[in-house]
Amino acid sequence: MNNIFGVKVMEDYIRMCHDGVRQGWHERNGGNLTYRMKEEEVAECRPYFRATPGSWVKLGVEADNLKGEHFISTGSGKFLQNVGLEPQNSICIVEINEEGDSYRIVWGLENGGRPTSEFPTHFMNHSVRKRVTGGENRVIYHAHTPYVIALTYVLPLQSEVFTRMLWKSATECCVVFPGGVGVVPWMVPGGPEIAKATCVLMEKYDAAIWAFHGLFVSGPDFDTAFGLMHTIEKAAQIASIALAATGGKPPRQVITDDNLRAIGREFGVTLNEEILSFVSDDELYC
Ligand code: 13P
Ligand code: ZN
Repeated sequence: MNNIFGVKVMEDYIRMCHDGVRQGWHERNGGNLTYRMKEEEVAECRPYFRATPGSWVKLGVEADNLKGEHFISTGSGKFLQNVGLEPQNSICIVEINEEGDSYRIVWGLENGGRPTSEFPTHFMNHSVRKRVTGGENRVIYHAHTPYVIALTYVLPLQSEVFTRMLWKSATECCVVFPGGVGVVPWMVPGGPEIAKATCVLMEKYDAAIWAFHGLFVSGPDFDTAFGLMHTIEKAAQIASIALAATGGKPPRQVITDDNLRAIGREFGVTLNEEILSFVSDDELYC
């Protein structure tokens, strides 16, 4: 296709938005997706950039390691279900300035608009994930995953407690997120506080639960980030169903800590032992 939608990275980005919608994670404008583009992807898209880019807009945060980068972002208030239908009005490409503190729109949002209200949060977390993964992580994805949200009403809001519950919900969860999942207490969406609190967790986790709100994940590519979101949400679904079935009481049988360690050995992943020693199975249930 002789337009920007024929460029593979745009196709993959749009498909991921659609995949999230199919899962039921994006009511209305809920959720957002940003991707830090590779140089060759920027070069492929550049012929379709606006003749005159938008004006520079201060981010309110800055990151030295993101100077001059380009990101694809969903638009604030835009519905992810419309991304496939009207991508040019639902998403944009933004360029970061040489100071690493402002952005301007170089493509998309033709009917007006701005990148997601969570862009400063995504931006700061891209900076952390780029640093801690040696440049490997490129995707940040936020979704309103219903079962993860439901569990935040029931379990203590502690990373170790959620991780233990989610690891024990299905056998291969601990292989997908061996480092665990962070938990951020309730905070105003899009604000500096949630950005900072998430950054602290993203130093060591690649996923953070936002209490009563949803899930925030990062990954090297679309498939890995989506798969992480999907696995955590499915684990939360199983945990919610089991908790409801027992009325919150301990289940008849569980995956034991030694079972988890055996999975880790077999699959060649190192489980975060701090999580296993933090709280026992008995203490998970009230
Ligand atoms: P945006 O429409 O600004 O992306 O906000 C959606 C959302 O989920 C905020 O947390
Ligand atoms: Zn949200």
